[in-house]
Amino acid sequence: MSLLGAGPRRRRIVAGNWKMHLLAAEAAGFCRELLLGLASGVPAAHTEISSGSGSHSLPLGEGPKSSAPAVPAPRPKGGSGNLTHYPEVVLFPSFPLLPAVTAALAGSAVTVGAQDLHPADRGAHTGDVSGPQVLDAGCRWVLCGHSERRRDHAESDELIARKVVAALRNGLAPLLCVGETREQREAGETLAVLERQLRGGLSLALPPPDAPAAAASSPLAERAGLVIAYEPVWAIGTGLTASPETAQEAHQFLRATAAGLAGEEAAVTLLYGGSVTPANAAGLIAQPDVDGFLVGGASLDPRQFLAIIACSG
Ligand code: PGA
Repeated sequence: MSLLGAGPRRRRIVAGNWKMHLLAAEAAGFCRELLLGLASGVPAAHTEISSGSGSHSLPLGEGPKSSAPAVPAPRPKGGSGNLTHYPEVVLFPSFPLLPAVTAALAGSAVTVGAQDLHPADRGAHTGDVSGPQVLDAGCRWVLCGHSERRRDHAESDELIARKVVAALRNGLAPLLCVGETREQREAGETLAVLERQLRGGLSLALPPPDAPAAAASSPLAERAGLVIAYEPVWAIGTGLTASPETAQEAHQFLRATAAGLAGEEAAVTLLYGGSVTPANAAGLIAQPDVDGFLVGGASLDPRQFLAIIACSG
């Protein structure tokens, strides 16, 4: 597939990271409620969103067939790049839930991703899951470098880079997660950490800087697009969200750094993650370099998840 699996433009994406939550029946029920909400055009928690933008739109036309209301025009977005699409919706369930989720979402435009993969495509790696396996299970995406895997499994940037390449080799779109800890922020290291994680995670997917000829064959050079989630570790699961200004500062830096790595023409989609809720999503998405969300806790409640989707159009 073309690298990082995106189209030629910045995209709007709202993704739910379910982490190690839910059982199969709960997951299937969530999907049914999600599709009904998307098809109805009016998320159940819509009225909880406080946004002055006025233009709430729903993204997907391929849920259950129903008399869906007219979808309002997308809200114009400032900043560099070109955002003209409704948000894409992606779910990242844990591995055992994949059959139930892909079955429940069959025929819809909601796509599914895995929370991890092994760098190798097969072999003696007990407990691991490969790119071909998650592709076979219906995944289109894979999370790479989530801070909980960096923390719980000591994942290094070098390992994450190998996972990014494994995803691409198997036709999966990697969603690379980066973010600083509280200590790193307080030490003034935020931007250095973000640059290191971004460069490190993409290091094997990028052409060597001194090899312009190789750039032509680099997947990044195909201008396919790059999807990155900025997830400050201190904001994940804590209820402490980055302010819109803090998120914008990080996103602006990541966009500039990614452009330096992948070329100015490469489409870079930047998601914010870290205690996103219907109450704070509108302020964050209003920032020129925030293109969508990677939602943890609030993605376990279809009403809240729908409300976040609704204000991200
Ligand atoms: P949270 O998690 O929304 O619960 O903070 C986000 C994430 O870890 O992706």
